[in-house]
Amino acid sequence: MKALVLSGGSGTRLRPFSYSMPKQLIPIANKPVLEHVLTAIRDIGVTDVGIVVGNQLRAISGALGDGSALGVRITYIPQAEPLGLAHCVAIARDFLGDDDFVMYLGDNMLPDGVADLAAEFRARRPAAQVVVHKVPDPQEFGVAEVAADGSVLRLVEKPARPRTDLALIGVYFLTPVIHEAVAAISPSARGELEITDALQWLVDRGETVRAGEYAGYWRDTGRVEDVLDCNREVLRALTRSVAADVDEASEITGPVVVEPGARVVRSRIEGPAVIGAGTLVEDSHVGPYTSVGGDCVLRDTRLDDSIVLDGASLCRVRGLYGSVIGRSAAIGTFPPPPAASTPHLPATGRHRLVVGDHTRIEVAA
Ligand code: TTP
Repeated sequence: MKALVLSGGSGTRLRPFSYSMPKQLIPIANKPVLEHVLTAIRDIGVTDVGIVVGNQLRAISGALGDGSALGVRITYIPQAEPLGLAHCVAIARDFLGDDDFVMYLGDNMLPDGVADLAAEFRARRPAAQVVVHKVPDPQEFGVAEVAADGSVLRLVEKPARPRTDLALIGVYFLTPVIHEAVAAISPSARGELEITDALQWLVDRGETVRAGEYAGYWRDTGRVEDVLDCNREVLRALTRSVAADVDEASEITGPVVVEPGARVVRSRIEGPAVIGAGTLVEDSHVGPYTSVGGDCVLRDTRLDDSIVLDGASLCRVRGLYGSVIGRSAAIGTFPPPPAASTPHLPATGRHRLVVGDHTRIEVAA
């Protein structure tokens, strides 16, 4: 079995970050979403992975290389325009050959893994097996109508009156018959070749399409709120590991990872939280539910329930929550006063900031 990971798309819902980076590289607990995806794929024993990329090939291949660090072998497949999920299957035809494959959306997080579903697919080998998840708002999704024996009767895209609460989520187990279906369908009203249309074509032709339910935590990390929620969920499972320079005046509580080369000075880190390599945390209180990337500087700052990307600096910013701070952004009061004159100050109000890469925001202390 091979894997096809979809990592093109336009990412409009994740602006401003998607202006400067592919949304699939947004870090969740300090690892890009795509790294979580590739780990999940490797965990079901699949190592031959095609990644469909749009105009962000350089950033994605820069982060993942040939995949060897993650135990997979990556082939990059360029997609000139985001013409739909089934279009991705069509352009990957040469890579896929006549193998079965798992198609995995590169912005989907299923931290509980898909091992049981992969085993079910391998044991029964239907023409296709979709993954469904119970959602409170099925009208926003492709919805599956499923018979008692698990076979799919019908797939409906964003139905006004959904007949079930089983949404299709971003993992599909497919056999080569999907190529016939993809060749047979036409673009939808929004101009895309839809994978739901290809799957419905299989159902209409009498092929067996099955649904496997994923009952664990699932998020499409297409929006900032979902990225933050997913970060919380993944951080919850952290195992404490403090491999860094933490001074006597600092306190670290709960599941906290402080990566090698980070420095924690006169600060409090409250887990779950992760502090990236090479980051300095000084006179600050970080966490819970916070990820701080590598090579950041946090000085006299109070921050919880947030994500700070690599190279950002926060200086005298007290009371940030629910925030995502882009790469190399600088927020606060500059230049910083000397460390010795910055005692722990109480939070002064609560603020949410969602700021893109390389943004500079100066605020009065
Ligand atoms: P979406 O999140 O549905 O689409 P998008 O990336 O255009 O995002 P937005 O709605 O915010 O503009 O795509 C799901 C996944 O599939 C995502 O990882 C991008 C990928 N994709 C492709 O690789 N090629 C495509 O043609 C499309 C439509 C999506």
